Amino acid sequence: MTLQEKLERVCLAIFFSLSLQGAYSQLVVTPAGPTVVNEIAGNNVTLSVSLSGASEAAVVWFMGDLPVGIWIIDSSVDPDIAENHKDVLKIEKSGSLSFVNVPLGYTSNYTVEMTKSGLGKASTTFTLKIFENFQNLTLSTQPDFAKEGTDRFTLHYSMMQGVVEQQMWFFNGREINTNSHYVVEQRSLVILGPNRSDTGQYSVHLTNPFSSTTALKNVTVRYGPDEPILEAQPAKPFYVVGDSVSLSCQAEGYPQPTVQWLFGVQILANSNKGVLNLTNVQASQGGVYTCSLLNEETNEKRQKNLTLTVYDRPVGNPMCSVKSVNNTDLQYHCGWMGGTPQAQLSFPVLNNMSTGAGHISLNVTASDNLNGKTVECMAYHPLEQNRCNITASSPVEFLPNVTAVDPDDKIEVTIRCVSEASPQAVVSWYRGSEAVTNGTTHQISNDTTQLEIRDYKVNNPLLQNYTCMCRNPLGRQRREILLQGPSISDFSVFLNPNGTTVTLTWEVPRTSVVTGFDIQMKGPGQNSTATHSGGSSDGYRTILKIPGSDRSVEISNIDPDLTYRFRVIPKAHQTVGEPSEVHRIGPALTHWGMDTGPLGMSCGSSVDSVTPHGCTGGEHPELCHVSQAVSGQTVRCLS
Ligand SMILES: *[C@@H]1O[C@H](CO)[C@@H](O)[C@H](O)[C@H]1NC(C)=O
Ligand SMILES: *[C@@H]1O[C@H](CO)[C@@H](O)[C@H](O)[C@H]1NC(C)=O
Ligand SMILES: *[C@@H]1O[C@H](CO)[C@@H](O)[C@H](O)[C@H]1NC(C)=O
Ligand SMILES: *[C@@H]1O[C@H](CO)[C@@H](O)[C@H](O)[C@H]1NC(C)=O
Ligand SMILES: *[C@@H]1O[C@H](CO)[C@@H](O)[C@H](O)[C@H]1NC(C)=O
Ligand SMILES: *[C@@H]1O[C@H](CO)[C@@H](O)[C@H](O)[C@H]1NC(C)=O
Ligand SMILES: *[C@@H]1O[C@H](CO)[C@@H](O)[C@H](O)[C@H]1NC(C)=O
Ligand SMILES: *[C@@H]1O[C@H](CO)[C@@H](O)[C@H](O)[C@H]1NC(C)=O
Ligand SMILES: *[C@@H]1O[C@H](CO)[C@@H](O)[C@H](O)[C@H]1NC(C)=O
Ligand SMILES: *[C@@H]1O[C@H](CO)[C@@H](O)[C@H](O)[C@H]1NC(C)=O
Ligand SMILES: *[C@@H]1O[C@H](CO)[C@@H](O)[C@H](O)[C@H]1NC(C)=O
Ligand SMILES: *[C@@H]1O[C@H](CO)[C@@H](O)[C@H](O)[C@H]1NC(C)=O
Repeated sequence: MTLQEKLERVCLAIFFSLSLQGAYSQLVVTPAGPTVVNEIAGNNVTLSVSLSGASEAAVVWFMGDLPVGIWIIDSSVDPDIAENHKDVLKIEKSGSLSFVNVPLGYTSNYTVEMTKSGLGKASTTFTLKIFENFQNLTLSTQPDFAKEGTDRFTLHYSMMQGVVEQQMWFFNGREINTNSHYVVEQRSLVILGPNRSDTGQYSVHLTNPFSSTTALKNVTVRYGPDEPILEAQPAKPFYVVGDSVSLSCQAEGYPQPTVQWLFGVQILANSNKGVLNLTNVQASQGGVYTCSLLNEETNEKRQKNLTLTVYDRPVGNPMCSVKSVNNTDLQYHCGWMGGTPQAQLSFPVLNNMSTGAGHISLNVTASDNLNGKTVECMAYHPLEQNRCNITASSPVEFLPNVTAVDPDDKIEVTIRCVSEASPQAVVSWYRGSEAVTNGTTHQISNDTTQLEIRDYKVNNPLLQNYTCMCRNPLGRQRREILLQGPSISDFSVFLNPNGTTVTLTWEVPRTSVVTGFDIQMKGPGQNSTATHSGGSSDGYRTILKIPGSDRSVEISNIDPDLTYRFRVIPKAHQTVGEPSEVHRIGPALTHWGMDTGPLGMSCGSSVDSVTPHGCTGGEHPELCHVSQAVSGQTVRCLS
C-alpha cells in the first residue's frame, strides 16, 4: 500500500469518525523549537512539534505540498515514510520530523498537519535550509579579456561546493551596486560597455550562515590605440636638404601598441618606440609619412599621417635669355633648374599673370619700347628669391671685315659681318642685288655671320659688290662691301734705340683682298745679290714673303752706319698691288748739304719732344720720317 493510498484511508476514517462522534475537543499543533532551521548538509536535524488534543489523530508531514510521512498517534503501526525519503526522514514518537545525514535537497518548507474526524485539522509550518561550506571558489571571465568598446564583459564565479545565501561584488574594495553599468546576474557580474577605467581588482564575497568565502580577479581592460600623437623634432614648417629630423609617433593603449612607420607603401626600418630618425634628408624623402599603430591583442589598428616638407635650392642662379621667333617675335626665356619645389618664375614687366615652374617662356611681338629695355625675371623659391635680367636690342652699327688666303692656288675670301645684337642678329648676304645662296662658290657659316667666297677672281669687277644685312626682330643694319685689289695703307718704320733692328708696320684697307706681302729692301749687299730672283729692275729685292694676315715684320742685323730702303708689296695670289711708299733708314744724306734731323735737330742728338706731324711738315719732308720719336730717344735721320 502506498503512502497515498494510506492517506486516502486516513481521510475516509476521519470523515467517518467526524460524522459519528461530533466535535468535543480541540486539536493543537505547536512548534517545540525554532520554525526556521538552518543546518549543514550531512548533519542530523529535527523539526520538533508538540501535538495534543486527540488520540489516534492522523499526523501528516508535507515537504512543500508533497506528503512525505504519515503516522497515527498511539498506533502500533510504525509511521509510514514515502519510499524515496526513507533513508533520510523519520517521524519521532512525539510527531517531530527527523532528518538523518540530511542532504542538500531537503531545503524546503515543511508542514505538519494533524487531523481527526469530527475535530477538524491543525497544522504548523517549518522552514528548513540545508547549507554546505564553500569550497574552491573561483572567478572566471567571459570573454577571456575585457576590451573597451564591446557590449559587455562578464565575471562569473564557480565552486566545487557551497550554498550561497548572499553574494556581494566589489571593485577595488568598494561594493558594486547594480546600475546602468553593472548588472548582477545569478552567478555573474556583468559590466556593460566596459572601458579602461574598469581595470582593477574585482572580488565576489559569498556568505551563508555557516561560512563565507571571497574570490579575487584582476581585470585589465584592453584599449587603444587611441588617437596617435605625431611630432617632428625639431618642429619646422619645412626642412632643407641635409637637415636631420626625428619623427615620433605615440598613442595610448593597453597593451602598448606597436608602431610602424610607412612612407608611401615602403615600410621603414623598425623604429625604436615609434621614433624615426632621418639624418641628411633628401628632397625625395619629403611627403606623407604614415604611422600605423597596432594593439597586438585586440588587433585594433589606427593610422595617422604626417607630411614632411623638404625643400631643395635650385642649382646655380636663374638664367635669362631672349630668342628670335620667326624674326618677328621675341621669346623671353627664364630658367632656374632643379630645386624642390621648382622655382616660380615670371616676367612681371611683360605679363604679370604668367608664371612657370622651373622655366618660363613668353612670346612678345617685337616693338621699339622693348629695344634696350631691361626685362627682369623674378624667381621665387621658398629658400631663396632671385632674379635675372635680359635686355633685347637691335643690331648696332658695325664694320665688315675681309680676310683672304690662297691655298691650292685659289683665293678664298672671307667676309665677316658681326653686329652686336640681342637676340643675335641673323645675316643675309647679297651679291649685287641678288641673294647669295649657300653652295660651293659661296659658303655661309652656320651662324650666318661669315661668307666665304671660293675661287675669288680679283680682276672681275662684277664679282666685287657684296652686301650683308644683320637682322633681329628689333631692327636691322646693312653694309656694302666693295672688294678691292691688294693694297697697303699707313706704312711705317721703327728703328730700335741702337739702330740694329727695324720694325715695319702697315695696314690694309678694310675691303682689300690680300693673301700675302713681299717685303722688299734696297741697301747694303745689293751688288752681291743683284742677280737674286727676288730682285727687280728698280734695284729692290724681296727679302721676305709673309702671309696676308700679318701687319708687321721685324728685320735685324741692320748696320747703323749704313743706309737701307724698305717697301711692302701687297699681293692677292698672283695679282700684285701697288707697292707701299718707301722708307729709308741710315745716316743723313750729305748731298743735301745738311746734317740736321727733323725740326733742325742734329742727327744723333737727343730728342726732347718730337711729333711726327711736326716732322713731316718740315721744309724737307723726306728727311723727317722720324716716326713715333720718343722723348729721350736718339734722333735717326731717315730718307
Ligand atoms: C545521525 O544519526 C545516525 C543514526 O541515528 C547516526 O548514525 C549518525 O552518527 C548521526 N550523525 C551525526 C552527525 O550525529
Ligand atoms: C516557504 O514559505 C515561505 C512563506 O510562505 C515562502 O516565502 C518560501 O518561498 C517557501 N520556501 C520554499 C523552499 O518553498
Ligand atoms: C580545493 O581547495 C583545496 C584547498 O584550498 C585544495 O587542496 C584542492 O586541491 C582544491 N580542489 C580542486 C579540485 O581544485
Ligand atoms: C591584483 O591587483 C592588486 C592591486 O592592483 C595587486 O596587488 C595584486 O598583486 C594583483 N594580483 C594579481 C594576481 O595580479
Ligand atoms: C634618434 O635621435 C635622438 C636624438 O637625436 C636619439 O636620442 C635617439 O637615440 C635616436 N633614435 C634612434 C632610433 O636612432
Ligand atoms: C594618409 O596618406 C595616405 C597616402 O597619402 C592616404 O592614402 C591616406 O588616406 C591618409 N590617411 C589619413 C588618415 O589621412
Ligand atoms: C613665321 O611667319 C610666317 C609668315 O609670317 C608664318 O606663315 C609662319 O607660320 C611663322 N612661323 C612661326 C613658327 O611662327
Ligand atoms: C612661342 O613661340 C615658339 C616658337 O614659335 C612656339 O613654339 C611656342 O609655342 C610659343 N609660345 C607661346 C606661349 O606662344
Ligand atoms: C636687373 O636690372 C635692374 C634694373 O636695371 C637692376 O637694379 C638689378 O640689379 C639687375 N639685376 C641683375 C641680377 O642683374
Ligand atoms: C677680322 O676678324 C677676325 C676674326 O674676328 C680678326 O681676327 C681679324 O683681326 C679681323 N680683321 C680686321 C682687319 O678687323
Ligand atoms: C652652308 O653649307 C655648309 C656646308 O654645306 C654648312 O656647313 C653650313 O651650315 C651652311 N650654312 C647655312 C647657313 O645653312
Ligand atoms: C648649325 O645650326 C643648326 C641650327 O641653327 C644646328 O642644329 C647645327 O648643329 C649647326 N651645325 C654646326 C656644324 O654647328
